[in-house]
Amino acid sequence: MKVWTEIAALDRDLSALGAIGIGLVPTMGYLHRGHMSLVAAAIKENDVSVVSIFVNPSQFGPGEDLERYPRDLARDCSMLEAAGVDFVFAPAVREMYPHGFVTRVEQGVLGEHLCGRRRPGHFSGVLTVVAKLLGICRPERVYFGAKDAQQAIMVSRMIRDLNMAVKARILPIVRDPDGLALSSRNQYLSSAERERALILPGALRAARRIIDAGERNAATIVCEIASRINAIAGVELEYVEVVGLNDLQPLDLIDPQNTLVAAAVRIGNTRLIDNFMLGEI
Ligand code: PAF
Repeated sequence: MKVWTEIAALDRDLSALGAIGIGLVPTMGYLHRGHMSLVAAAIKENDVSVVSIFVNPSQFGPGEDLERYPRDLARDCSMLEAAGVDFVFAPAVREMYPHGFVTRVEQGVLGEHLCGRRRPGHFSGVLTVVAKLLGICRPERVYFGAKDAQQAIMVSRMIRDLNMAVKARILPIVRDPDGLALSSRNQYLSSAERERALILPGALRAARRIIDAGERNAATIVCEIASRINAIAGVELEYVEVVGLNDLQPLDLIDPQNTLVAAAVRIGNTRLIDNFMLGEI
C-alpha cells in the first residue's frame, strides 16, 4: 500500500496506471467498521482502491471539534493495509488549500434543514473538499455511508448537477450490537454517556415501528422521537425532522418511497446523529 501526501505524486502514479477503474473512499480518518465497510466495497467493485484521510478544516464551524477531532494515521494505515487497500491519500491542509484558494461549492436549499441549519457552512465545506478529491483522484465510484444522510444526498446532487463522471455508492449504516451507529465521535463518550446515547437509535426504531404499522403523519413521528429522547436526562435533542429524500424539505405526510427521518442529540460535548430512510437516495 502506498501513502501519498502530495497531489503531484498521486497524479503521476495514477496516470502511470492508465485506464483503470478507481474506487475512492473519502474519510477524515480514525477509521471504524463503518468506514471499513465502504473500503471493502471499494476494493471489491474497482480495479484500484484509494482511501483519503483528511480532517477538512473548512467543514468545521467556530467552536466545533476541529482541534480535538481524533487522528491516528499510523493506526488507520495499518487497518487499510490489512484490508488490501492500494493507495492512501493523506494530504496536509496547505496541500489541499494552498495560498490563494477561493472556490466554494454552495447548494443553498438542500442545506436549509437538519444539520445544515445548525452548522452553517458545514456542507459547503464538505462539498468543496469532495469536489476537490474527485478532481484529484478521478474515481469511477465514490463511497459514502448512510449515517451522514444529508451529506450523501447533497454530494449525490452535486455529482448530478455538475455532470461529474463518477457514481456515488451510498452504503447502509453500520451499528454496534447495542444499536449505536458507528462514528469516530463515539470515542468522546464516557461509558455512562454511551449508555444514554442508545436512546437515539432506540427512539428512531420506535418511530420506524409506528410507520410500519401504518402511521403517515410526520408530526406524530416527530413527537414520538422527541418525547422519548427528552425523557432521558443528560441528552439534549438538537433536532428531529422528517424530510423528503430528494429535496430535504419538511414533509407533512410520510411518503414510503421518499422519506428521511433524522435526528441529532448532544450528550455532554458530543454531538451524535442518526436516521432511517424510506426509499433510496
Ligand atoms: O464524512 C466525512 O468523513 C467527511 O465529511 C468527508 C466526506 C470525508 C469530507 O471531508
